[in-house]
Amino acid sequence: QIWEFLRTEKRENGVAVVRLHRPDALNALSGPLMGELVSALRNMDNDPEVKAVVLTGSERAFAAGADIKEMKDKNYAEVYKTAMLEAWSEVSDIRKPIVAGVNGFALGGGCELAMMCDIIIAGENAVFGQPEIQLGTIPGAGGTQRLTRVVGKSLAMEMCLTGSRLDAHLAEKRGLVSRVVPTEQTVDEGIKVAEKIAQFSTPVIIAAKDCVNQSQELSLQQGLKYEKALFWSTFALSDRLEGMTAFKDKRKPNFTDE
Ligand code: HXC
Repeated sequence: QIWEFLRTEKRENGVAVVRLHRPDALNALSGPLMGELVSALRNMDNDPEVKAVVLTGSERAFAAGADIKEMKDKNYAEVYKTAMLEAWSEVSDIRKPIVAGVNGFALGGGCELAMMCDIIIAGENAVFGQPEIQLGTIPGAGGTQRLTRVVGKSLAMEMCLTGSRLDAHLAEKRGLVSRVVPTEQTVDEGIKVAEKIAQFSTPVIIAAKDCVNQSQELSLQQGLKYEKALFWSTFALSDRLEGMTAFKDKRKPNFTDE
């Protein structure tokens, strides 16, 4: 499929790569771009040959936020009636893991999009921020919620109230990203992580992602119950028997996604 604002690649080993491609606007996340992104991710989610996705931008910008020029002249009635930017949440409905490879600016909606992904690998030049307050507004896609859960209240407050940015190393220290790599290696590193995931059984991958995400929604007791139920449910899969049999036989498992 040909996209205007994306470049996609389906690799051999269960990994698909999506690159945001709007170089003249630092990948600002316009309605059309987000529409394409959600469609592409849904296609990959529904493709049995894809087990994990890598989402990245350019070396200069993962994404510099929602498209300010597109939003500028909208009034309240319009944004409310059309549920402006509501479609973004569909990114977090994708069931297969998404590894974000973040280089350069991840600001506003760009930071929020990265946080909707499951694992963030940052290049050394990555900068994360929620500068909406400088525009007379506040984050609208998780910047006050996901960020606070990850980096804690004080730093999230500071970022949302001052618009100050985190560099890659502080982002790593505060748990926003898994690790920092040289900028030119970010995408390869993301692909490596996705390839590791892609060796495993699709329903088990989905269950693991689902359980970790539920930890952000449920109380500990509810979360533990949810986890136990899905852990038990893996015993309905032939891949669970194959995994344990292969261990006993000292060979590599041959998963069939069933
Ligand atoms: C529209 C954008 C843009 C954006 C950059 N551009 N960010 N256009 N929306 N968010 C455009 C610029 O207008 C410019 O186009 C081109 O990209 C290059 O950007 P420059 O500013 O010339 O580059 P530079 O000087 O290197 O500065 C980079 C930057 C700056 C620091 C990232 O562009 C910037 O501050 N951008 C806005 C960041 C921001 O406030 N994001 C939050 C948006 S609100 P022209 O045509 O002039 O060359 C948001 C709400 C989320 O995200 C809510 C979600 C539900």
